[in-house]
Amino acid sequence: MNDFIEKNIGVMMLLILIAVSFGGMVEIIPLMTQKVVTQPIEGLKPLTPLQLAGRDVYIREGCYVCHSQMIRPLRSEVERYGHYTVAGELVYDHPFQFGSKRTGPDLARVGGLYSDDWHRAHLFDPRSVVPESNMPAFSWLFDTPVDAEILPAKLSALRTVGVPYTDEDIANAAKGLDDKTEADALIAYLQQLGTVIKERR
Ligand code: HEC
Repeated sequence: MNDFIEKNIGVMMLLILIAVSFGGMVEIIPLMTQKVVTQPIEGLKPLTPLQLAGRDVYIREGCYVCHSQMIRPLRSEVERYGHYTVAGELVYDHPFQFGSKRTGPDLARVGGLYSDDWHRAHLFDPRSVVPESNMPAFSWLFDTPVDAEILPAKLSALRTVGVPYTDEDIANAAKGLDDKTEADALIAYLQQLGTVIKERR
């Protein structure tokens, strides 16, 4: 039998596939059915249209390349960043912004840590507030208006994957954002990060 499998690459591949997918299913299927992973934590709200626009700026500018949003349950991380990240606070996050590299600090609970003015100064010129910073400046965000037109479509796309926006939310998504810049949106997004569970330092 062993000889037969080793000499028939097709059979070998099929058996490997079955073995690997069985391993995968054992890990993935229980996760899809566990409440702790699929249910939002108490107090979790979908992002406002402005925050959502900011999240898209965050993705477009590649902030996730240098910043994670995932505090691991290790003492060193919890003491530095606050309560470790739980799945239930991310159920409306599509796609997750876990990141995989920390050139800069984790941002999972940066909301409320600094004032809006601090963020403004920092994004415009990081070295004006943190002299040793090697974060790039994002000064163009301050004169780029938020693309409000597209927000109703974004909200309704997120609704199809389970974010509970109402018809009214979607209808009003573009309203009142005429004078907002991408910097305003990004800061609105940053200021809510991790605030539903907030236990810092
Ligand atoms: C090339 C890597 C890099 C990129 C890209 C980057 N950052 Fe940073 N960021 C850093 C570093 C390094 C620090 C720490 C020094 C500082 O505070 O400026 C930092 C600090 C921060 C802080 C302060 C965090 C704290 O706890 O003090 C915020 C907020 C932040 N970045 C937001 C952003 C946003 C938003 C973007 C995308 C628009 C971004 N960063 C892109 C490297 C980066």
